[in-house]
Amino acid sequence: MFEEAQYFAPVAAQEDGSVVVELASSHPGFADPVYRARRNAIAALALNYRPGTPIPEAEYTEQEHEVWAAVARELAVKHAKYATAEYLAGAERLGLPRERIPQLEEVSRLLEPLTGFRYLPAAGLVPLRDFYGVLADGFFHSTQYIRHHSVPFYTPEPDVVHEVIGHANALASDRYAALYRLAGQAARRVESEQALEFVSKVFWFTLEFGVMREAGELRAYGAGILSSYGEVEEFRGMDIRPLDLAAMGTTEYDITKYQDVLFCAESLEHLEDVVGGFWATCDDDAIAKLAAARV
Ligand SMILES: [Fe+2]
Repeated sequence: MFEEAQYFAPVAAQEDGSVVVELASSHPGFADPVYRARRNAIAALALNYRPGTPIPEAEYTEQEHEVWAAVARELAVKHAKYATAEYLAGAERLGLPRERIPQLEEVSRLLEPLTGFRYLPAAGLVPLRDFYGVLADGFFHSTQYIRHHSVPFYTPEPDVVHEVIGHANALASDRYAALYRLAGQAARRVESEQALEFVSKVFWFTLEFGVMREAGELRAYGAGILSSYGEVEEFRGMDIRPLDLAAMGTTEYDITKYQDVLFCAESLEHLEDVVGGFWATCDDDAIAKLAAARV
């Protein structure tokens, strides 16, 4: 019920120009034709988007704004208990609306004066090289749809709650934003698909699912944990391992389940030294050596 996953529904552009989001039969919105029509329209906005123009506004229902309000309220309580101080300071600086879903253009307007980051609309899964590459330029690809209102605390795919509450609060921190940019530079620098995948896995185990020791307690800074109503209560009981580039870059994970292996930084400086330092300099050779050391 409270599980969250990171699986994107496939999006298909039809010959007549319409767009269809292929929700799985297990998706809570599968049998709701009104929700599905809205999902298709929101995906079409992203597919027709031209960079440099304002992001078209997504239409949401009152029920959907209420979903946002309920989830934002609950997550704020959990963040106070479980998020790192740097993440909480980012959330405070950003000041996302609590009562309604912000449009992505509004998120950009709040974020850009703080760290230069702006949002770009994504219909669904963005190819790894594009998704990570544009981080180097201060752009973050984001879905615009919200989970189905019948199960407000569950989503089988990364929705606007994950993208905005999870990521934008982190992107509002100068220090986390710098790490996102370094991940983008690394993705641009590496050439092989294997090296790119290694870079993306290090991102997964840090900026998506990273945890950190703070004043003797385990706190989360990863957007995947901090946007999940269930996972944010569970992460302290997972298999917590020390920050280790070779392990993070090669550990397999299941995107449909709670992450049961997490990597812990001893401090923000530690994360910056190890992971920031890696992204700042890594190339295909260095990554091949790290990966080989694990086998
Ligand atoms: Fe994410």
